[in-house]
Amino acid sequence: MSGRQSRIVYQAEGDLSPTWRVHHPDKMVTSKGMKNYFARLQGLEPDTRYQFVIRDSEGDSRIMVFHTAPATPDTPLTFIAGGDSRNNRSARKRMNLLAGQMQPLAILFSGDMTDMCSSKEWQEWLDDWQLTITVDRRLVPIVAARGNHETSNSILEDMFDIPSHDAWYALGFGGSLLRIYTLNSLAPIHGRQTRWLEDDLSTQGHAFTWRIAQYHFPMRPHTRRKKERLDQVDAWGELFHAHKVQLAQESDSHVAKITWPIKPSNGGDSFEGFVRDDDDGTVYIGEGCWGAPLRPANDVKPWTREIGSFHQFNWLCVRPDGLEIRVIQADKSMAVTPLNTLSRGALPNGIACWAIGVSDHIVLQGPGEDLAEAIRDAERFPIIALDHKSSLQIPYRLDDTHSVRIEFTNARRQTVKSFEFVRNAGNYLEGVNVRDLPDGRYILTVFADNRPILRRLVQQ
Ligand SMILES: [Fe+2]
Repeated sequence: MSGRQSRIVYQAEGDLSPTWRVHHPDKMVTSKGMKNYFARLQGLEPDTRYQFVIRDSEGDSRIMVFHTAPATPDTPLTFIAGGDSRNNRSARKRMNLLAGQMQPLAILFSGDMTDMCSSKEWQEWLDDWQLTITVDRRLVPIVAARGNHETSNSILEDMFDIPSHDAWYALGFGGSLLRIYTLNSLAPIHGRQTRWLEDDLSTQGHAFTWRIAQYHFPMRPHTRRKKERLDQVDAWGELFHAHKVQLAQESDSHVAKITWPIKPSNGGDSFEGFVRDDDDGTVYIGEGCWGAPLRPANDVKPWTREIGSFHQFNWLCVRPDGLEIRVIQADKSMAVTPLNTLSRGALPNGIACWAIGVSDHIVLQGPGEDLAEAIRDAERFPIIALDHKSSLQIPYRLDDTHSVRIEFTNARRQTVKSFEFVRNAGNYLEGVNVRDLPDGRYILTVFADNRPILRRLVQQ
């Protein structure tokens, strides 16, 4: 749009009030021959479709839609994860279209959007990205990481308003379900960046069921023409293992790969600093085939699960009890029937998934051990029978002021009911409404700032 006084005018779908909300830009930058405006909307409802138009002195855009992320773990979250869309525009455009047809909640893009980072290329890239708009007019958000073809961190701020000058940042999705770490392969690895990662993993990351990282350079590229990234192996590989980052999306090499779960090791069975560990390892996927020139996949490792060279991105579906991974073969997915609304785990007809062994997908199992532990912990006490009473009194004690969360979770780790409040130090007998809790057995957990302080089994 080219007019003046632009603003976003928006409203939740189904909201019948006559007045739409208006928000003026919070930031304007001139970059790559464009004036880019960003409006940072706050106070939105979770898991809600909003309609909006961009209005300026020349009129309104067409009505479009965005969909906010769920705030609880019980809704499956779908993502597309890929990178390297540099210079083959026809492949890139096909893949953008395909991404929109698959209706993910968001797209994780790990760098190298354009080839030379020129104004013309960025304008073309944004034009091509319009193809990701879905059939129900939804804009799919992008979580962007920096590649070596982005000449500075600020280009990502100018194009996507990323929340960090350093181009490394973490985002939570689905309440306690998922934390995504976007790292910057182009910034110094050791030092400030790795300290930040370690700090966030220790103070925040553990409160989430799943931790996923994305960054540009693969630690151990699966083509011989690319450099080994020993600094990333050393700094991040160890942290991923220590803090149970279950999945890492890499790019840059323009080949396709998926590894077995692996962890850093220099022992006798290790190869290039990693060894397979099916129980506790990190799965690495990639390596960037969104329209950049494909390279030979000729650097296989003993812990490589599959390797190939074709246009692909990964499709992820994150649930409390499992993380499903599919590698989408773009050139074989040419006759797809688009999904007509946000995917909560659904795949469109006509999608071609790469064979991973004998299957077309893999599922990483959720941290079942933790569940078993939680149940063992709760079983030390008698089961509380609710007998369809309207409320339950829960005793607990706080030594300090905390945000308290009381959760009822079922055997599939889905949160069926939760309550949140802030309480000062003291002894409490907290009454919570359990009248509408369906029949079944639940783990009741009281958290103080995400730390469990009490667990019981309850039966309705
Ligand atoms: Fe690259």
